[in-house]
Amino acid sequence: MSEVQRSLTVPELEQAFMNDDHHEAARLLEAVGRAREEGDDNAVREAFAAFVEFNREHFAREDELMERVGFPQKDYHRQEHAAHLARWEALLAGLEDGSLQGADLVSALDDEIIPWYQRHFTTMDALLARFAERAAGG
Ligand SMILES: [Fe+2]
Ligand SMILES: [Fe+2]
Repeated sequence: MSEVQRSLTVPELEQAFMNDDHHEAARLLEAVGRAREEGDDNAVREAFAAFVEFNREHFAREDELMERVGFPQKDYHRQEHAAHLARWEALLAGLEDGSLQGADLVSALDDEIIPWYQRHFTTMDALLARFAERAAGG
């Protein structure tokens, strides 16, 4: 039986602010996990809102870095950020207007959000951190 990944494993990348942000994103996601274990839909919604809000800022910081260093895959990486943020905002709106339940968010977390974020760390973010480090002469 395969285990569902319930939390993020944060890799050490060559950009300190990205690592700090990724640890914070993982911490906020763990708070969503705790709320869901308590079965408290209001707490789940509030914790997920904090995760979405933080990632809006995190993605903007990475977008700015990509622009500054001329990251070759910046269009793709920016689109990934924008598409997932839009999806998460739609989930949040659904929780807020009652068209989605906590259980719907739980499936989205397990099936999309955590797997995507984990993969994003080790692909686009790892490439960006390395490129930015080289661009800075590292
Ligand atoms: Fe990131
Ligand atoms: Fe990213």
